Amino acid sequence: MRVLVVGSGGREHALVWKLKQSPLVKKIYCAPGNAGIGSIAGCVNIDALDFAGLAAFAAENDIDLTVAGPEAPLAAGIADYFAERGLRLFGPVKEAAKLEASKVFAKRLMEKYGIPTAKSLVFTDPEEALSYLGRAETPLVVKADGLAAGKGVIVAETLAEAEAAVQRIMVNREFGDAGSRILIEEFLAGEEVTVLAFTDGKTIIPMVSSQDHKAAYDNDQGPNTGGMGAYSPAPVLTKDLWERVKTEILLPTVSGLRAEGIVYRGVLYAGLMITASGPKVLEYNVRFGDPECQVILPRLKSDLAEIMLAVIDGKLEKQEISWYDNHTACVVMASEGYPGAYETGKVISGLEAAEKMPGVYVFHAGTAEKDGYIATAGGRVLGVTAWDKTLQGALERAYRAVNAISFAGARFRSDIGQKALRRNDNNYDHV
Ligand code: AMP
Ligand code: GLY
Repeated sequence: MRVLVVGSGGREHALVWKLKQSPLVKKIYCAPGNAGIGSIAGCVNIDALDFAGLAAFAAENDIDLTVAGPEAPLAAGIADYFAERGLRLFGPVKEAAKLEASKVFAKRLMEKYGIPTAKSLVFTDPEEALSYLGRAETPLVVKADGLAAGKGVIVAETLAEAEAAVQRIMVNREFGDAGSRILIEEFLAGEEVTVLAFTDGKTIIPMVSSQDHKAAYDNDQGPNTGGMGAYSPAPVLTKDLWERVKTEILLPTVSGLRAEGIVYRGVLYAGLMITASGPKVLEYNVRFGDPECQVILPRLKSDLAEIMLAVIDGKLEKQEISWYDNHTACVVMASEGYPGAYETGKVISGLEAAEKMPGVYVFHAGTAEKDGYIATAGGRVLGVTAWDKTLQGALERAYRAVNAISFAGARFRSDIGQKALRRNDNNYDHV
C-alpha cells in the first residue's frame, strides 16, 4: 500500500512513523512534511489546503490511503473532495468537521443530545456581549467560534479580562473571521483529560487517555497554545470515568450526528474537564491531538493502517485494537515568543545524541533544512517523546533528551506530567 500523510507538524511525524511500521505500507509520502519527516518519508511540497494538487499527486502516484492530519483541510472539505474523485482518505467530511470548525455548532449538538458541557451563550454583536458581561460573574471563558489554532479561547478571571477578550476576538479580529461569533461560557473547575476515539460512524473504539498542557508556562500560567506537552495514560481518568465518557459523551456525539444525517468517520477528539459532577466536554476536535498523538501512537500495538482502512470502509466493528501497557511523555520545545510572534531559522543541535537515548523519539513539529543543518521553522519546534514502565521514568528520559538539544531561544515547560505525579495515589486503575 502507498500512503500520503497531509500536514507538517509533530502529529504528522508521529503518524508517518507509526504508519511506516505497518507491513501493509510499502511507500509513504508526506505533504508538505518537515525536516524530521523527510528523514523517514518522501516529502512533497504541496500545501495541506491545495486539494487539487494533493488529489493529483495521489492519483498519479497510486496512493491507496491519504491521511489528513490537521483540522484546516478537514474543515475545508478535503474528505469530500477526495471521495468525489474516488480517492480513499482518512478523516471526516466537512459537515462532520464542523464539530471542531464551529464551537457554536458543537455546543448546539451537545445541548440537543444532552451531552454534558459548560453552559454558554452565543453573541454576534460585541456591544451585546459587553453588556452581558456587565451582568455576568467571573471567572468565565470567551471563545472564538471558528478555528484559531488552539489560541482563540481566553479564560477570564476578571471582568476587565473578559472585556479585553471580546475586544480582541470580535473587534480587533485577532483570529480573523473565526471571531465573528463568540461563545461566553461558564468556567468549569477540574482537571483536563483528552479522550480520542476511532469511529466509523457506528462503532466507537476509544483510545488510551492522555493529558495535554495547553498553557504556555509552568503551573498552567500564560496564554493558551496548541499544546506544550502531553503524557499517557492520565490517571485522572479512572476506568469508571472512562466508561462514562464512552456512554455519556462519545456514543451520543456520534449517534447525535447520525441523527442529523452526518456520518462521522475518523478520529474524534473529546477535550474534557473532569468536574465534581463528572466529565464535561470543553471542545471537540476532528483529528488526532497535537501533541496527544505523539504520546498515544507509541502505545498503539495494533496496525494503524489497518485500523484506518476499517474506519473508511465502515468495518471498525471487526477490528481488534490493543495497546502497550507503558507510559509515554512528550515535552514540546518551542521558539521564544510562541504563541505570540517568534523568529525562525535557528540552528538546532543535539538531535542525534537525543535520538540515540533509550526509549526516546524526537518528533519534529516546525523544522526545515537550512544549509545542511536542521533549523527551527515554526512556533512549536520539536515534540521530544519518551516511553518507560512508569510516568516518572518516561519524563526523566524525555527531559534528558530535551537537555541534550539546543537552539537559540528554545523554551519548554518543565512541569509536564506533574499533575499525574502529584496524585501519587498509586491508582493504576486507568486507561
Ligand atoms: P478549548 O480549545 O475549547 O479546549 O479551550 C482551550 C482551553 O481553555 C481548554 O483546554 C481549557 O484549559 C480552557 N477552557 C476552555 N473552556 C473552558 C471552560 N468552560 N472552563 C474552564 N476552562 C476552559
Ligand atoms: N492538543 C490540542 C489539540 O490538538 O487541539
